[in-house]
Amino acid sequence: MDSARSVSSTAPFPAARRWVDFWDRPHSVYANRRHLEVHFALLAQDIAEHLPPNGTVLDFGCGDALAAERMLERCGSLLLFDASPAVRERLTARFAGNPRVRVLDDRDLAALPPGTVDLLLVVSVLQYIPEPDLPALLRRLRVLLSPQGKALIADVVDPGTPLLADVASQLRMGWTHGFLTASLVALVRLTLSDYRRVRREAGFATYTPDGLLDHLEQAGLRGVRLPRNIGPTPHRRSFAAEPMDGADQGAAGPAPNVQ
Ligand SMILES: C[S@@+](CC[C@H](N)C(=O)[O-])C[C@H]1O[C@@H](n2cnc3c(N)ncnc32)[C@H](O)[C@@H]1O
Repeated sequence: MDSARSVSSTAPFPAARRWVDFWDRPHSVYANRRHLEVHFALLAQDIAEHLPPNGTVLDFGCGDALAAERMLERCGSLLLFDASPAVRERLTARFAGNPRVRVLDDRDLAALPPGTVDLLLVVSVLQYIPEPDLPALLRRLRVLLSPQGKALIADVVDPGTPLLADVASQLRMGWTHGFLTASLVALVRLTLSDYRRVRREAGFATYTPDGLLDHLEQAGLRGVRLPRNIGPTPHRRSFAAEPMDGADQGAAGPAPNVQ
């Protein structure tokens, strides 16, 4: 569990590294603390029904994980992984002394025993991972799932989604939750930052539902699209998946419960 300020090995290629570097620095993706709190409160609300009672949850690309405490009301333990060393440092400080939370670095993640994760969360992360890297990542994460385990892949961006859709969604959230002015300021700051250049140069991975379901299947995961996205961005998509050789030991089994 070191906090070495090196780029994650889950980000082996320059494009992925560019994004990790972006997230590792101060940025204005979130308008203020209130935005971050509302964002994670909405996430916590949507994730609640999927949490395994007393089970182990791995939150891959967890960010500042402000939903962690609410998740711990139901699950047994929480493994938090983020490729950004700065994020990990904040999490490590926050959860020091909490025996139910482990903040993982790359080495810890690689050392997790197969089959020990009951719920895998990958929320708003796939867009920062170049598509050629996705198959290996999904296979690696799939091995960690317990036979009855489940994965939630959320906030997946559809090809052709205009940047304006995200901007509108953020402004709506700011209006609804009382931080509209801060949202406007943050969006201007984001526009003036290197965000758009990083997005243009490093890419921003997008998937059709069928494309994502194919990726899941190739990795040995049987997926279904959820009726609505998890979290505060309704125009994006969420998927639930379970190991194909999971509950039924190899034969095709029922699709994951999506509700
Ligand atoms: C939009 S935030 C999502 C945070 C959280 N999951 C949520 O839904 O609010 C994206 C997070 O993914 C992390 N990330 C980016 N590239 C990654 C990679 N290759 N491996 C793991 N995490 C990555 C970033 O550091 C950042 O914390």
